[in-house]
Amino acid sequence: MSERDSKQGNWGRPRDDRRGPPLLRLPDRELRVIPERWMPRGEVETQWAGRPLMVWQGIPGEKALVKVEHQGLNQILGRWVGSPEPHPHRVEPVCDKYTTCGGCPLMHLDAHGQADARRQLVRAGLDQAGLSDVRVGEFHKSPGTLREFRHIIKVAVGYADSGRIRVGAWGRRNRHVIPIPDCHVATPGLRKVMAAFAHHVIDMNIHPFDAVTGQGVLRVAVMRASRSTGEVLVTLVAGRHVRELDELAERLASSATNVAGVWLHINDGPGNAIFTRGDSGVVGVTPLVGKPTIDEVQNGISYKVGSGDFFQTNPALAEILSARTIEALRLEPGNAFVDLYCGVGGLALQGARVSGWALGVEEVDGAVARAKEAARFNKIQAEFTTGKVEDVLPEIAKRLAGRSPILSVNPARRGLEPGVVEAIVALKPRRIAYISCNPRAMGRDLALFREAGFEIGEVEMFDMFPNTAHVECLVILEGAPDTGDARRGPQRRLVGASSKT
Ligand SMILES: C[S@@+](CC[C@H](N)C(=O)[O-])C[C@H]1O[C@@H](n2cnc3c(N)ncnc32)[C@H](O)[C@@H]1O
Repeated sequence: MSERDSKQGNWGRPRDDRRGPPLLRLPDRELRVIPERWMPRGEVETQWAGRPLMVWQGIPGEKALVKVEHQGLNQILGRWVGSPEPHPHRVEPVCDKYTTCGGCPLMHLDAHGQADARRQLVRAGLDQAGLSDVRVGEFHKSPGTLREFRHIIKVAVGYADSGRIRVGAWGRRNRHVIPIPDCHVATPGLRKVMAAFAHHVIDMNIHPFDAVTGQGVLRVAVMRASRSTGEVLVTLVAGRHVRELDELAERLASSATNVAGVWLHINDGPGNAIFTRGDSGVVGVTPLVGKPTIDEVQNGISYKVGSGDFFQTNPALAEILSARTIEALRLEPGNAFVDLYCGVGGLALQGARVSGWALGVEEVDGAVARAKEAARFNKIQAEFTTGKVEDVLPEIAKRLAGRSPILSVNPARRGLEPGVVEAIVALKPRRIAYISCNPRAMGRDLALFREAGFEIGEVEMFDMFPNTAHVECLVILEGAPDTGDARRGPQRRLVGASSKT
């Protein structure tokens, strides 16, 4: 036994770390380990007989008794069942579906422990990209408690083992549907709509869609609540449009009075993606009942959000993030402000209020339409262009030549597409706010910006997704000293005018 094993009473790795012949079947055994690090999905990892062991409900550095749940060729999956010396930040998860649902993997930690976990994940993302010198700074808390912050929820339709129709969340590490009527993180308004939806789907006997056989109808409902008005927009995602869906929409709108509108998206494809794009690249939605959009207000600016548009799930913290981004960018009147991946125009319009003008780029044409409408409604000078950032950047470069623009860049989880960093650098931006919900993709992109000569500031974290391992990060990149005349700004065009509409 190694010195470490004897000191720790054999907690930790088995002595032989080399990957050996297939392990004896483990599932009925309890392993004694000390997990080492957080993984991006909120499990903790250690090694067992040369294979990664992923532990649900574990905490790095805490001795853990782990029940093996699945033994694969490349990894072992387990669940924490006890500890002789519980970690000081360990708490009892408040939700009785914590283990089966899997939506809140860090609910076994208090707020301090959760913040530590996210800090470690951000640190790991930077270190992995060779950015060990970049500091991880302030952690901006989610306003209020760690509960009822979530304004978007996906409610799946499936079968229970008995064959009865079930409505709820997909299970931890599987696609079983778990009823979650008391979901602690959804807003009370969303819970009301979730309950009505579950009731009507079961009452009307609407079967889940099976992509393999083409049988059944409904896959999931995506529900989005407005923090400002309490209204909820529902998008039903179904394999086909049958008459029952129109009736379901009617029933939902009349029984849950906070439902503003119900839309339908058809997805009959294989795989687990919720939305699919048609040949035109657009996510098609059809109105069933009610209004097409809900209203949101952020930092005094009104927005419209439609079915399929991106809008942050934690609007109270998103408001703090936008204000902090505008402040950190040190925008001034006359600056050329460009918001890439702009969604419904949140940051673009808040920035344009200071600079006097902004240009937003977004690939979802409905979101661009909403952004233009918001610019008109709020009487803010801004243009919005529909298109993929990677395609639109060369055209923007021509318009902004010599003007050292100020940028905000907020890509999807995968980070920037190949070639986008180079195209951004070609704009000669004087300053960039890079916003990301994926520390690994962020590390990769920041390393490219550093290579191109940008100075990387401190990473600030925003607790956008309490109880999960995800965190939103903001970092300011400083370009080379000014060469252009940013105060001139680009040639103004009419509000709402766009190069592609
Ligand atoms: C993380 S969201 C940010 C939206 C917005 N900044 C906000 O905070 O509300 C990313 C946005 O980028 C859009 N998007 C994803 N890939 C894109 C691409 N290649 N070009 C343009 N927009 C894209 C998505 O539709 C989504 O609206």
